[in-house]
Amino acid sequence: MVSTQIIKGDITKVAVDAVVNAANSSLLGGGGVDGAIHRAGGPEILEACRQIRARQGGCATGEAVITTAGKLPAKYVIHTVGPVWRGGGQGEENLLANAYRNSLRLAVENNCRSVAFPNISTGVYGYPLRQAAQVVHQTVGRFLEEHPDAFQTIIFVCFDEENYGLYNQLWSASIR
Ligand code: AR6
Repeated sequence: MVSTQIIKGDITKVAVDAVVNAANSSLLGGGGVDGAIHRAGGPEILEACRQIRARQGGCATGEAVITTAGKLPAKYVIHTVGPVWRGGGQGEENLLANAYRNSLRLAVENNCRSVAFPNISTGVYGYPLRQAAQVVHQTVGRFLEEHPDAFQTIIFVCFDEENYGLYNQLWSASIR
């Protein structure tokens, strides 16, 4: 059975098979967790992103791509693009769910047994924290039910106290 963990901290320090990055469609880096991953992982990650860009022209919202993790303690970085919050009527919920689902799919395809997620879209992209956490809870929960043997560990790495509190509330209310 999969162990789901909620921790507070910096995802660049987490030793798992794959850490997920909240990237943008250019795949060329940015601020927030994206900046932290590229800084800590070194130039190899950006180089791999450039190659993907050359091949497929970036990454659409809700999709995911995988690269080396460079100097990070993880094996891979899965770069996914969450939606920018535009009030909720622009398909944001589906796009956020797709970002998590496609990241998990890519992890399975690459034999990753442990995956760490940040709170995608809840920084500069402005997704309301509680609504985002609910989408994650539902989407990841469903994926794990459908693929009960796929993973050993899923870690949600919260950077701020508010997300950490929300995740703990939601996950403790559903015994998994
Ligand atoms: N470890 C874990 N979580 C972190 C870290 C870290 N080191 N640093 C920040 N967070 P954001 P988005 C949290 O803005 O909203 C970038 O410029 C942060 O507190 O990184 O999806 C990309 O290039 C928040 O809870 O991502 C895109 O252009 C969460 O990570 C854009 O931002 C996500 O915040 C994507 O925006």
